[in-house]
Amino acid sequence: MCGIVGYTGKNLAVPYLIDGLSKLEYRGYDSAGVAVMENGRISVTKKSGRLSVLEKELAKHEQSTATVGIGHTRWATHGRPSDENAHPHLSENCLFAVVHNGIIENYAALKEQLESEGIHFSSQTDTEVISQLLEKNYDGSFLSSVQKTLPMLEGAYALAVLCRDEPDTVICAKKASPLVLGKSEEGIFAASDVTAVLKHTRDVYKLSDGETAVCRGASLSFYSADGKPVQKSCEHITWSAEDAQKGGYDHFMLKEIFEQPAAFAATVNQHITGGKLSFENLPLSKDEIGKLDRIVITACGSAYHTGIVGKYIFESLTRIPTEVDIASEFRYRDPILTENTLVIIISQSGETADTLAALRLAKEKGARVLSIVNVVGSTIANESDGVIYTAAGPEIAVATTKAYSTQLAVLYLLCGHFAFERGLMDADGLSRYLLELQSIPKKINEVLEANRERAKELAKLFVPLDHAYYIGRGLDFAAATEGSLKMKEISYIHSEAYAAGELKHGTISLVEKGTLIVALACHEPLFAKTMSNIREVVSRGARILAVTTDRHKDEMKDFDFVLTVPETLLPFCASLEVVVLQLLAYYASLYRGCDIDKPRNLAKSVTVE
Ligand code: G6P
Repeated sequence: MCGIVGYTGKNLAVPYLIDGLSKLEYRGYDSAGVAVMENGRISVTKKSGRLSVLEKELAKHEQSTATVGIGHTRWATHGRPSDENAHPHLSENCLFAVVHNGIIENYAALKEQLESEGIHFSSQTDTEVISQLLEKNYDGSFLSSVQKTLPMLEGAYALAVLCRDEPDTVICAKKASPLVLGKSEEGIFAASDVTAVLKHTRDVYKLSDGETAVCRGASLSFYSADGKPVQKSCEHITWSAEDAQKGGYDHFMLKEIFEQPAAFAATVNQHITGGKLSFENLPLSKDEIGKLDRIVITACGSAYHTGIVGKYIFESLTRIPTEVDIASEFRYRDPILTENTLVIIISQSGETADTLAALRLAKEKGARVLSIVNVVGSTIANESDGVIYTAAGPEIAVATTKAYSTQLAVLYLLCGHFAFERGLMDADGLSRYLLELQSIPKKINEVLEANRERAKELAKLFVPLDHAYYIGRGLDFAAATEGSLKMKEISYIHSEAYAAGELKHGTISLVEKGTLIVALACHEPLFAKTMSNIREVVSRGARILAVTTDRHKDEMKDFDFVLTVPETLLPFCASLEVVVLQLLAYYASLYRGCDIDKPRNLAKSVTVE
């Protein structure tokens, strides 16, 4: 996610801004920039690449004497990483400069309107609409221009703004994205998180949604959403800088598990307006979607596991034969692809070597390639015929959680779109489907709240184990593959996922008294079948840790341990149960004393074959 800093006070602004941005580097970024008030104008310096590139650029000019400024590290979402798309963004007449973290969901409509009024944009970002609106709404008061602009913005934002006419002031505002303000005798420090402020002060104010902060010299005042002054009390931070990066969580993985509701919502909401779906970069017309005779999903690791979910839902909802293959296998198996085959490439990093090779092979063979990628401007995104971005933000823990969840979110969106375009889902059906999809973030939250403590307790069962098994049918099996991988990669316990109905053809011979089996039973139409398979292993002495939906809680009460998740439409059930499995893996790894965020032998981005 993007990082924001701001400073007003008696010291030089640039050194603080750069130091603050360096503390936010862990959030991930592809470009950086600063804007300072200098000689009666706003001076902007911004560069694609690392912070050091920006520093070199700044060093080419005389040292800035400015004492007021804003800065930003950008994680691209709208518009590729480039100098023009880097923040800060100036308004057309250079009256305002803005840095922004979040996504303005209605930016396309706002931009169209502003352009029709003759306003020229110089970037492809959603953020630039904010600076242009501020200038359009300007009536001689910086604060009132901000207060008029904020209600026009839908989506999430943390903002820091400069105005040429009030050179001693930075105004900050937030909705859904974090923003803190630190106050010391040296001045006011604004930042996306306390890490960037701790060096200067441990007394911080957390801005609430809808609030505005006016920083002027060393004074700080707050306003409510309706423009009334508000008093806020300051919080004394006792965490270390490293703790602060993790937002108070013990590990990045846990933080990212808890970020899933927001990441899922951001991914889905980008494409749903007024109950309708839209994709900017889908390389297929309605006619071409109708003609598709096959979908091939290929990816590595957890991204491959989302493809398994994809196979089940695409076949059942769109009736397009769908296969899923591990990229390192696909690339060497001389696959049969035609112009009516859609190859879906899934990758968080957009750089995985085998996945990239699979993409190139698919294109060479004449298939249409659509990628689902988290990193904007990555090689896979660039080389695909079309790309849909996940809005997971940077994922630091090697074991993926929120990237996996957001990849599923995109598959659900695509599946609904294809089913509708192929006439297999009517407008009412699609709107029910999308409504439920938009309720998944809330349900993931419920899963987290209801299961965290119990999962923490039950994870103790795994600690002494050498082996664990995950079983399920249909979408439960798909979720089991990911749950099992999570357990093995971070806790180093050997674990395998099996299709529950296949157990009796071999694996059941491994089941003995005390064997722990994680049994998933959320795929409603297959519930009774899965129950039979669970009984088969129970009668051979297995202990069961079951994950099922609320309605089946009682039927499962005879099993050893039961965790429940809310009901949802069948296609989305894996998104809820997998969260329980992530928690089990996280706590098992914690109890075993493993390096949760950086498991041995693993890398976040695998750019070798
Ligand atoms: C590594 C990561 C996994 C990831 C896989 C594919 O193994 O540890 O979390 O699923 O690579 O990476 P990608 O960036 O292509 O999604």
